[in-house]
Amino acid sequence: MFEVCYWYREFRIRAMTPQIPLPVFDLVIFGGTGDLALRKLLPALFHRFIEGQLPAGSRVCGIARDRIDDAEWRERVRAALARASDPVDAQTLERFLAVLAYRALDVDGTAGWEDLAQWLHSGDGGRVRVFYLATSPTLFAGACDGLRTRGLIEADSRVVIEKPIGRDLDSARAINEVIGRAFEERNTFRIDHYLGKETVQNLIVLRFANALLEPLWRAEHIDHVQITVAETIGVEQRGAYYDNAGASRDMLQNHLLQLLCLVAMEPPATFDADAIRDEKLKVLNALTPIDAHNAAQHTVRGQYREGVPASAATRAYADEVGKAHTRTETFVALKAEVRNWRWAGVPFYLRTGKRLPERVSEIVIAFRQVPHSIFNGDAGALVPNKLVVRVQPDEGIKLWLMIKYPGPGGLRLRRVPLDMSFASTFGVRQPEAYERLLLDVVRGNPMLFMRRDEVEAAWRWLDPILAAWERDEAPPKSYPSGSWGPNASIALIERDGRTWHEDAA
Ligand code: BG6
Repeated sequence: MFEVCYWYREFRIRAMTPQIPLPVFDLVIFGGTGDLALRKLLPALFHRFIEGQLPAGSRVCGIARDRIDDAEWRERVRAALARASDPVDAQTLERFLAVLAYRALDVDGTAGWEDLAQWLHSGDGGRVRVFYLATSPTLFAGACDGLRTRGLIEADSRVVIEKPIGRDLDSARAINEVIGRAFEERNTFRIDHYLGKETVQNLIVLRFANALLEPLWRAEHIDHVQITVAETIGVEQRGAYYDNAGASRDMLQNHLLQLLCLVAMEPPATFDADAIRDEKLKVLNALTPIDAHNAAQHTVRGQYREGVPASAATRAYADEVGKAHTRTETFVALKAEVRNWRWAGVPFYLRTGKRLPERVSEIVIAFRQVPHSIFNGDAGALVPNKLVVRVQPDEGIKLWLMIKYPGPGGLRLRRVPLDMSFASTFGVRQPEAYERLLLDVVRGNPMLFMRRDEVEAAWRWLDPILAAWERDEAPPKSYPSGSWGPNASIALIERDGRTWHEDAA
């Protein structure tokens, strides 16, 4: 019975919300045998295929150096889909695998380009070409120049690259130059997959489709904002990349700053990609600089050590990356400020880390206390309201309010949430971020992608922090795996008379 209700409800909701059609496309994935392609991109496409959203005739070509053929790549994709998706009927799976092709190609050499050109030319004209560079940035120049010099880029061909774009402002500019030699900015899609998450998009709707919140969304009524992106996993197999990046380049420069922008930006005049990105850029440019003078006061770096009890899953970071010592941070907490009329004096506390006790991403808008309490002390303390936007897991929104506890015998006040879980409200599956983002690339809608100037502004703010840490002789503070980071992170917020949000608090 539950199943029937669920499917009926999902069917009705879909029938009410028409999907924007897609043009027929050819998607070329450089790095086709890599982790990103197999773990994220192909499962995302497969889900859209199952939903009937990929137009007939669309094709996908995997590119990598491995000397394998179509059949071998399809087998690798089949295995990856079995790991990533629920079982589906064999016919659907075979129909999906049939749209996949593979060409072996060395981007920095000459071998394989002719095969790719032939594959592209074998499709009917008029299809959108998307080149996804799911490779190390060191291969971007080879891929872009190879495509350009062989005339494979058409006027509206698109390129997709992943964060982090560079490791500082200079290297980000260099990557943007390389891409810009081959593709126009309007055809360049820089992925920050957090922007594809349903609840992140919902932030825009929550703020600008409701008259209720906007008048309160300012320093007069908001005491502070917290943004937490906590993970339980360690660095897993990505030690070589991560040890060169750390939490600030891997998460803060992109995911957390993008969330901050969506919370802090002014209402754009229209729901248009550039209008929204213009407003986000203004927020990045208004961030108070943090540098050697105030980094110690406003930032905390941490690195996880062995947890208790010791086990393979609670190994120290240095051990995981196979080093005796490393100064890479796996945790960062900081206090940021947006210097403008709306936000003057409102701290934004940001924290992210690996091997924390819970996987949770959330934004907490902490409102100010009522100006005067009419209740006497016996009623219980008045706790300021909070709006918690839960990005993942259990996507939803909670608004914590003070309510009278039912019954006679005096007035007792309690703090309880108005709780909206998207899963139970809509009864539909929350799509993976990449499902949305891949289709938006094909549609040519750049709204949920980072523009060049945004990426560079984020680095411009982060670079002095990284430089200050570099000069600081002290290593990151250590924290045990499975804890909420170094004590200094708690002190950072408690110094200001505030605490990190805990759901049950
Ligand atoms: C990626 C980071 O961008 O985001 C990873 O490189 C991190 O280190 C991941 O684990 C987290 O994404 P999600 O969607 O699991 O929150």
